[in-house]
Amino acid sequence: MTRKDVLVPEQELQRQREIRREIARRMALLPRQPLAFVDTYGCQQNEADSEQIRGMLAEMGYGFTEDENEADVIVINTCAVREHAEMRALGNVGALTHTKRRNPDQIICLCGCAMQEPHMSKKIRQSFRHVDLVFGTHVLYRFSELLAQVLDKKKRVFETPDSQGVIAEGLPVARKGKLKAWVSIMYGCNNFCTYCIVPYVRGRERSRDPEKILAEVRELVAEGYKDITLLGQNVNSYGKDLGLDMDFADLLAKVNEIPGDFLVRFMTSHPKDASQKLFETMARCEKVAPQLHLPVQCGNDRVLKAMNRHYDRATYLDEIRRLRALIPDIVLTSDIIVGFPGETTEEFEDTLSLLEEVGYDALFTFIYSPREGTPGAKMPDPMSREEKNRNFQRLVALQNRISAEKHAAYVGKTLRVLVDGKNDDGKHTLTARTDGGRLVHLDGDESLVGSWQRARITGSSNWALFGELV
Ligand code: 5AD
Ligand code: SF4
Repeated sequence: MTRKDVLVPEQELQRQREIRREIARRMALLPRQPLAFVDTYGCQQNEADSEQIRGMLAEMGYGFTEDENEADVIVINTCAVREHAEMRALGNVGALTHTKRRNPDQIICLCGCAMQEPHMSKKIRQSFRHVDLVFGTHVLYRFSELLAQVLDKKKRVFETPDSQGVIAEGLPVARKGKLKAWVSIMYGCNNFCTYCIVPYVRGRERSRDPEKILAEVRELVAEGYKDITLLGQNVNSYGKDLGLDMDFADLLAKVNEIPGDFLVRFMTSHPKDASQKLFETMARCEKVAPQLHLPVQCGNDRVLKAMNRHYDRATYLDEIRRLRALIPDIVLTSDIIVGFPGETTEEFEDTLSLLEEVGYDALFTFIYSPREGTPGAKMPDPMSREEKNRNFQRLVALQNRISAEKHAAYVGKTLRVLVDGKNDDGKHTLTARTDGGRLVHLDGDESLVGSWQRARITGSSNWALFGELV
C-alpha cells in the first residue's frame, strides 16, 4: 500500500463536505430539527468513530437524542470482537422493528466491525428488512453520501467493501465530554493473533501523519481538554509505515512538548513492540500518565505461541520489571482470555501465577469466543463450557483480591486528581481520576468539575478509591 492509496484525496473529502451542506440545507426546511441517535458497542476506537459519525450528522443539520422512539436516524456502531457484543447489538436492532412500525420514515443504519464480516451483512440483508443502511469500517467517511442515497432513493443501501484500509483526515468530530478526548493515531492491525477478528475487519496498520495528530492535540488542549488518550490497535507500531524517522516514543515526546495543562494516555500496546525507549520516554515526560495497558492474554508459553503473540512469559515479566524500575508507581492493566482452544486447566493456572507475579491494578477478562474466519475458530476446543466458567471465576476472584490490595495501599496517601464529573452513586457528589486513571469518589462542589485537586484517600474497594479534598 503506498501512502497515496491510504490517504483519502482532499477532493473526495471536499465532495463529502458538499453533500453534508446540501443535506443541511434540506433539513433546515423541515418544520422541526431532525434528531439522530448513535449507539456504540465495543472499544474506544468505536467510540471515536461514533464521535465522527455524530460530527457528520451535526453538519448535516441533525440534533441528538438518546430515545430511539423520537429519532429520525438511528446509527448502531457494532463490535465483532466477541459473540456477546455482536448479539447484544443485533438484539437491539431487532427491537427497532417496533419503533420503525410507529415511524415508517425512521432510517436505521448499522456500521462498525460486525458489518465488515460478510456473514453478518448478509444476515442483515436477509433477516433484518427494517435496516436501511449498512456501511463498513472502510467507508465511514462516506456516511453522508450513503445516507443521502437512502433519503433520495428510498432504497436499502449496503456498502461494505473489503479494503486494506484508508485514512480520512479532517472529518468533523462531535465529542461527548469537555474534559476527556480520544485521538486516533493509527488504524488497523497486522498482528493476526489467532483468536482475533480485528485484522480482518479493520485492515492493515496505517499511521496518521504526526503533524495532523499534534495539531489535533494542540486544538484539544486549547479547548480545555485535560485528559487525552492516543488510540490505536497497537500504538507501539506507530510510524512504521510512514518512512519518517519517528516511532511511537518520539510521537509521545512531541505530544509532551505541547504547552498546557493536560495528561496524555494511550492504548493499546502490544508487549512484543513495547520498547525500552518507550518506557524511558514515559518516565521522562511529565504529561504522560503513569499508566500502561499491556494485554498479556495468558501466562503460558505454549498458549501464547498458539495465540501467535510473539512473546513469552519471561520476556513479558522482564518488560514489567524494567518499566517498574523506571516508574515504580505505574498503574498496570491487562486483558486476559480464558479458554483459548486447547488451553488446559494446568496451563490456565500459569495465568493465575502470572497475575500474582505482576499484580495488575485492574484487568479486563474474557472467555474465548470463536470468531468465524480466524485460525482459532478451526482449532480443536475440547474443554467444556463449565470448566471454562470455573477457570474464569477463579481468575476473577484472584484479581478482585489483588485489586483490593492495590487499592488499599492508596489509603492515607494524598494525590493529585482530576475531578471529572458528578457522581451518581448516591453517596458522593463527585468522581475524579488519579493520574494513573483510578476512580476516586469524593464530595465537593459541582463547580470543581474539570479542575485538578488534591485528594486524601480515606478508603477503598475492589473497584475504586474513596477520598476527601484537601
Ligand atoms: N474471544 C475473547 N476475547 C477476545 N479478545 C479479542 N478477541 C477475542 C475473542 N475471540 C480480547 C483480547 C483483546 C481484547 C480487546 O479483547 O483480550 O485484547
Ligand atoms: Fe487483535 Fe492481536 Fe491485533 Fe490486538 S494485536 S487487535 S488482539 S490481532
